[in-house]
Amino acid sequence: MKVVVIGSGGREHAICYSLSNSRKVSKIYCIPGNAGTQSIAENIDIDFNNFKNLENFIKLNKIDIVIVGPEKPLVDGIVDYLEKKKIKVFGPNTLASKLEGSKIFTKKICEKYKIPTAKFGIFKNAEQSEKFFENCNYPIVVKADGLASGKGVYICEDKINALKAVNEIFKGKFGKTNEVLTEEFLDGEEMSFFIISDGKTFKQFGTAQDHKRVFEGDKGKNTGGMGAYSPSRLENDELNKKILRKIVIPTFNSLKDLKTEFKGFLYVGLMIVKDEPYLIEYNVRMGDPECQTILPKLKTDLFEIIEACVNKNLDKIDIEWFEDKSICVVLCSKGYPDKFENEIEIENLENIKLKKNEFIFHAGTKNIKNKIFSNGGRVLNFVIRSDNFKNARNDIIKIINQLNWRGGFFRKDIGYKVIDK
Ligand code: AMP
Ligand code: GLY
Repeated sequence: MKVVVIGSGGREHAICYSLSNSRKVSKIYCIPGNAGTQSIAENIDIDFNNFKNLENFIKLNKIDIVIVGPEKPLVDGIVDYLEKKKIKVFGPNTLASKLEGSKIFTKKICEKYKIPTAKFGIFKNAEQSEKFFENCNYPIVVKADGLASGKGVYICEDKINALKAVNEIFKGKFGKTNEVLTEEFLDGEEMSFFIISDGKTFKQFGTAQDHKRVFEGDKGKNTGGMGAYSPSRLENDELNKKILRKIVIPTFNSLKDLKTEFKGFLYVGLMIVKDEPYLIEYNVRMGDPECQTILPKLKTDLFEIIEACVNKNLDKIDIEWFEDKSICVVLCSKGYPDKFENEIEIENLENIKLKKNEFIFHAGTKNIKNKIFSNGGRVLNFVIRSDNFKNARNDIIKIINQLNWRGGFFRKDIGYKVIDK
């Protein structure tokens, strides 16, 4: 089978890697890919936002299945477009993708279907929100409605900061909008909970804990993710059941009521407060770097699972996992998530000898004349699957130190909640 993977991050390299181990996959194209995907797939330099060009490539090369990694093309309607052209795609359609594309859409579903989430208000202008900020409890959370690459969320300690956030959002920092969302602050522990669905049935697809803040101790600005580990320490059967019963099933029912369905990965972003799950956000794709930690634990052939989803046969597949734990540390460009330099050579990479169950997934890298250069804020993901988080993290740090890349920095404390000092 011939597969196209859309995207260029660590998530997409990890997906390509899993697909490359499938006996059913004969060829992988990654659009546009990175220096890592290039070693197992053919990178194709076309703009995937141009759906017509993408369609031409897919038809010309007789692609069997397209797998969409990132959220933007999903929210922009790539699945509806390609399916209309009779192309098989793994990912949710435009309406289902609103679960990530519009936080207000999701909040309204939560309200109607009584899904536990932070109490919220929706405001149409700054004056309306100002009145609310006079009497609300702090901290208060202010959110832009649409996609904002994880940057559209403000945790505000007082009225001044809350108003500043509202004004930035209405001024269009995250695109034109006429609504802003405010939420009560939930004090608990976060958990990323994954589901895979074919539109008819769904299965769990692991849990992880992401470290979003840039500095050790979870301090500093939010990033796309500085590292992750799987499983989350919070996971247990009882909590899993609650998440499915109170959150996932009502959400799928709400999509049914809208005469649609969810096919693809669903990332359920939760805050667990006193053993009770609250929905913080949905993403309509795998997490990055959560994907890089979860896929190495997968025993079943990823391609077979995805093929079953696009053929609506997921109920016929048993998804099996290795019992091990897995941890991922992200090596970033110095300065990220603010300003950083690109095109700094990563010289030592080919000298690193990885053992079984050790992986390096590329993110912001590119290959120029057979040399690897940085090409983004998050550059490389180091992942180890093992029965011990502490040993795995120590070994990752040794590998990163061995690489000794002058352009980079990383957090040495990923997984601190599951690793004793
Ligand atoms: P989101 O993009 O909605 O996932 O928000 C980004 C991050 O902001 C989350 O991962 C949480 O750490 C934090 N956050 C968002 N909403 C809340 C909330 N209501 N209470 C506490 N923290 C929140
Ligand atoms: N790691 C967070 C995300 O993928 O949105």
